[in-house]
Amino acid sequence: MFDKLRIDSFSEYKKVYRESVEEPELFWAKVADDFIWHKKWDKTLEYSFEDANFKWFSGGKLNITENVLDRHVAIHPNKTAIIWEPNNPLEETRIITYRQLHSKVCQFANVLKNNGIVKGDRVCIYMPMIPELAIAMLACARIGAVHSIVFAGFSSAAIASRINDAQCKLLVTANEVYRGEKPINLKAICDEALKESPSIQTCIVYRRAIEPTSMVGGRDKFWMEEMHKVTDHCTPESMDAEDPLFILYTSGSTGKPKGMVHTIGGYLIETAYSFENIFQMQPNDIFWCTADIGWITGHSYIVYGPLACGATTVMFEGVPSYPDFGRFWEIVEKLKITHFYTAPTAIRSLAKEPLSFVEKYDLSSLKVLGSVGEPINEEAWHWYNDFIGKGNCPIVDTWWQTETGSILISPLAGITPTRPTFATLPLPGIQLVLMDEQGHEIETIAEKAEGKLAIKFPWPSMARTVYGDHERYKETYFSAYPGYYFTGDGAYRDAMGNYRITGRVDDVVIVSGHNLGTAPIENAINEHQDVAESAVVGYPHPIKGNALYAFVILQNNVEESDALMKEIKETVSKSIGAIAKPDKIQVVNGLPKTRSGKIMRRILRKIASGETDFGDTSTLLDPSVVKDIQEKVEQSK
Ligand code: PRX
Repeated sequence: MFDKLRIDSFSEYKKVYRESVEEPELFWAKVADDFIWHKKWDKTLEYSFEDANFKWFSGGKLNITENVLDRHVAIHPNKTAIIWEPNNPLEETRIITYRQLHSKVCQFANVLKNNGIVKGDRVCIYMPMIPELAIAMLACARIGAVHSIVFAGFSSAAIASRINDAQCKLLVTANEVYRGEKPINLKAICDEALKESPSIQTCIVYRRAIEPTSMVGGRDKFWMEEMHKVTDHCTPESMDAEDPLFILYTSGSTGKPKGMVHTIGGYLIETAYSFENIFQMQPNDIFWCTADIGWITGHSYIVYGPLACGATTVMFEGVPSYPDFGRFWEIVEKLKITHFYTAPTAIRSLAKEPLSFVEKYDLSSLKVLGSVGEPINEEAWHWYNDFIGKGNCPIVDTWWQTETGSILISPLAGITPTRPTFATLPLPGIQLVLMDEQGHEIETIAEKAEGKLAIKFPWPSMARTVYGDHERYKETYFSAYPGYYFTGDGAYRDAMGNYRITGRVDDVVIVSGHNLGTAPIENAINEHQDVAESAVVGYPHPIKGNALYAFVILQNNVEESDALMKEIKETVSKSIGAIAKPDKIQVVNGLPKTRSGKIMRRILRKIASGETDFGDTSTLLDPSVVKDIQEKVEQSK
């Protein structure tokens, strides 16, 4: 699609990278030139690390949906935009062309307007992986409304807090859905949430299953009925490049999730540029990213990136284990997937099943494999390479974050020399650095230069703020190293400049590729009446990457029991969602604290992973607590 922007050799990558660092604004302006603008921008970049203010292409006017839809309808209206694969293989696959997608998006945009939504309003979307989810988000973008998608595995309390934070006016959901064999009544979960979310005036319900659905008069409306009332003509709203496109919540080190705000121009340009160059798609290729659109990976690499490049993107409603562990490979064969992008946790869980689940299917359509969300271990990398790629498909290990909007470190498929478990080199425009303990850049060229990963120049798709809390944005990302964006990750760099990400260095744990803050989980556990205090840490897990270990102090006179442990897990499930349930709960008498009362999670992390060398414990208020916890852990094994 973007022939002019496509890098096609390693020497060209090196040249473009060098230019992008020497003159970043010129580089990004050239990229942005290839998109459809109503009016060109006044200034390519204005920024201040000190105030955490970043503006790209300000004064420029555009509508993102013209770039991801109208543009392609004009060139290839009948090309498939979305292939939807249902949870149940007996149900039919849906094929949606660019023309059809455009028409549905415009229609639903009119539904939103009919229901009082105007430019700048926030719309919450809580939906399963069905095309209507993509339609709803693009419809928001068409009229300049801001979408806030909440992953459909979150609990009613989690939806309510997100709706309230952004004061969303309208909620889009579906009635009953199936994931694997499990029916989930999304509408009922929404009804619970809406008891606590008075800002919602309208709830639009897509009927995914023919089930009786309880509807609240005046508030709840069926998707189909609303669609029948409108045409499919909708003039795209002319937006400023710096107007918000969406809010997406991610966990942080306090109990409150952070609503990361992404803006239109920079996000469009960089998701498209990265997609084009990393995946190196050909016109008839088919791209499948197995993530859920409820996470940033789905936003950027199921919807915006692929569609901006005019590609065919697959949406899968189900899970890798249903009806059996061959489901992914069955879909690869059936849809002739050329580009397959998944998470290490999925690879590990499928690698432990018999190889016959893979061998049953013809995977010869595959050209490129991708990995995202957490460090990929050596074993999983080789299994993926040998049994899925058959040694013929480059693996792109892509590093990025909800906050970065698009992939920042990755090989370009077939171009960058790969190294197992390394995300390799930064994309053009991305100036990475490693920081030492004193906060200085590590410039050493060594086989293993190790430090904390930071970025020293802004990039277009970076989040601009935390919704309603700019101070938190500044504090979280720009205070650790003044003049830099701090990623929260540790990494090392080899002598060739390749990066390997080692994992989080803060209180965020990546469980099965999901980014979970320990603070909200502790808050949830503490809500149980029998719990006095708790501390949650991550520990290595063979499939999930990390699992959660909760150390809990019970109230006086409360007896430990299996029933109580179950109740505590349920409390977490209710407050956040089943994904945040701790795998292990250990009742203890005390927690290792510093004199100022701060829990030393570093020590708990070591205990949870079976280590015995705790390093310096001299700042502990009561060092005997550690021994006591260790003994309890031993006893419960
Ligand atoms: O620790 C890194 C890990 O996931 C974190 C970001 O999580 P989230 O915002 O949920 O976005 C996930 C999908 C982009 C990072 O700080 N991470 C992501 N990709 C990789 C990774 N760790 C190692 N290698 C990766 N390829």
